[in-house]
Amino acid sequence: MCGIVGFTGARAAAPVLLGGLERLEYRGYDSAGIAVFHDGAIQVEKVSGRIARLREKTEDGALTPGSAGIGHTRWATHGAPTDLNAHPHLSNDGRFAVVHNGIIENYLELRKELIRDGYVFQSETDTETIVHLLEKYYDGDIKTAVMKTAARLEGSYALGIVCTDTPDALYVVREASPLILGVGVEENYFASDVTALVSHTKNVIYLDDGEFAKLTPDSIKVFDCTGCEVKKPVSRVTWSVEAAEKGGYEHFMLKEIMEQPAAVKAALTPRIHDGRVQLDGFELSAEELGGVSKIIITACGSAYYAGCSGRYAIEHLCRVPVQVELASELRYADPMVDEHTLVLVISQSGETADTIAALRECKARGAKVIGIVNVVGSTIAKLSDHVLYTFAGPEIAVATTKGFTTQLTVLYLFALYLAEKLGRIDADSYAALVKELQHLPRRIQQTIDMNWQLPKLASRYASHSLFFIGRNTDYAVALEGALKMKEISYLHAESYAAGELKHGTIALIEENQPVIAVCCNEALMDKTLSNIVEVKARGAKVLALSCKGNKKIVSQADDVIFIPRVETVFSAALAVVPLQLLAYYAAKEKGCDIDKPKNLAKFCAKGHKTRLIRSPTRLWRYKTLS
Ligand code: M6R
Repeated sequence: MCGIVGFTGARAAAPVLLGGLERLEYRGYDSAGIAVFHDGAIQVEKVSGRIARLREKTEDGALTPGSAGIGHTRWATHGAPTDLNAHPHLSNDGRFAVVHNGIIENYLELRKELIRDGYVFQSETDTETIVHLLEKYYDGDIKTAVMKTAARLEGSYALGIVCTDTPDALYVVREASPLILGVGVEENYFASDVTALVSHTKNVIYLDDGEFAKLTPDSIKVFDCTGCEVKKPVSRVTWSVEAAEKGGYEHFMLKEIMEQPAAVKAALTPRIHDGRVQLDGFELSAEELGGVSKIIITACGSAYYAGCSGRYAIEHLCRVPVQVELASELRYADPMVDEHTLVLVISQSGETADTIAALRECKARGAKVIGIVNVVGSTIAKLSDHVLYTFAGPEIAVATTKGFTTQLTVLYLFALYLAEKLGRIDADSYAALVKELQHLPRRIQQTIDMNWQLPKLASRYASHSLFFIGRNTDYAVALEGALKMKEISYLHAESYAAGELKHGTIALIEENQPVIAVCCNEALMDKTLSNIVEVKARGAKVLALSCKGNKKIVSQADDVIFIPRVETVFSAALAVVPLQLLAYYAAKEKGCDIDKPKNLAKFCAKGHKTRLIRSPTRLWRYKTLS
């Protein structure tokens, strides 16, 4: 996901573009750039990092004068977040500049063709193919060049284009990526969402897929995909600037919870072809796998809990021993890791200091490392031998939600891939599970839709310290559910493997003690039910979470949250969603600062550097220095 913006009018464009990009920064924030038409040429300024760096570089836009231009804030998908990969991209003849939000799926073949034609590429991005196509198809008529270019693109795009031959005009075209035109007085705009527009105008035109538009300071003309002009209605935005940034949701956390069906789909789609799971540009050869004696999964916080859940999937499907280790422990544990260990390192940010140190420790001992990471070009992505990106898009709320479910999704894909490679799964079961995985986005949506009663349940159960219990995959969900509750509502919440209760903790159960029982694992249903009976007998009030159709649970628990029926091995990706919402509504009722909980930050690496020291056991280790 990236953000694009454009302005044409009588005043300076750069300050408008920079302001718009700041409002779109939630869509991507690893690099940014602007292109402004000035003195007969297109001046491009771009930087890796935040918009603040672009402001600095352009002296708040003063160094890029001109009254028409385009801007971009990037969330890297193709190529690391570097200055060169940042948008806008320029054509070789300097006539066109382009910003793009979306993914061009056939960019590799287009790139090969354009290189054969003699075009020179400056970046690794899919977007750069677009600007060279424009140059290739341009014969003095921009509309035709844009239409011919669009006809060659497969995938999703919202494009903003400027051309030196028409200095005050902006051109836009969209397919499966958002694009909105802002209608001003003697000035006009475009942007990926209204956030970037509402401080200038509340009059907007929503472009449809396949439509192309030309904007000048005093006119907006829209054309359909056949080139015929269409009359578009002008709508009035009623959102405040604040609300618009969150797409109408009160908090980023809620927005990100709701984005999970789309995020999980984005993690699945590029990796399943003709019913088979493929990894991203790498294969684990039979030879490499033959030498693997165990898998270690290491991570912190929620990413660690994703690993706990992934362990069950990998062990169940692949019959390979899996150890899940907290990175903050593993790094100091003198771990039993060698060249026969395959290490999965999980991190949303890719910058968590303990996770980086654990990764280095494992690599130093000869292990092969696969990173499961959201942020492209992050430290963990760079240090890993191979990377599986989670494609969750930017996650702004400190409490992870879509970051977690996309980590689970990638772990499920990996488990299926490995099971097939090792010959541990028969063809029918493999095909059925791949199919089941493809249904996950729809089932997550159903889970959200089914659970409209959660605000009421949150106020009933989240007024006291809580226990979360479960077995096996349900235990991993209980761990994550309790963490969500703690970090945003500040309520005391503990999770226990349900069978462990009777070994001590049950002493704490008294009249009205809330217990959240995760009970989605069909095979262990009766076992967890007996734990529910035990705590109920001591006065607990029980909110159970189970699969639709489980009648037994209805008779035992005080309240039940249901998820759609799903293969147990994938159930965590559904079961965690109502617990995220439960925590969200509990925090909301308590008036907590949901997106920025106290004492927490998005990742724990800022200002830390690592250096190699000798440990007491004489092994080389990395130490994090403040
Ligand atoms: O960026 P990472 O996935 O490496 O972060 C790991 C943890 O810090 C993170 O999951 C943390 O526990 C979240 N706040 C949980 O919501």
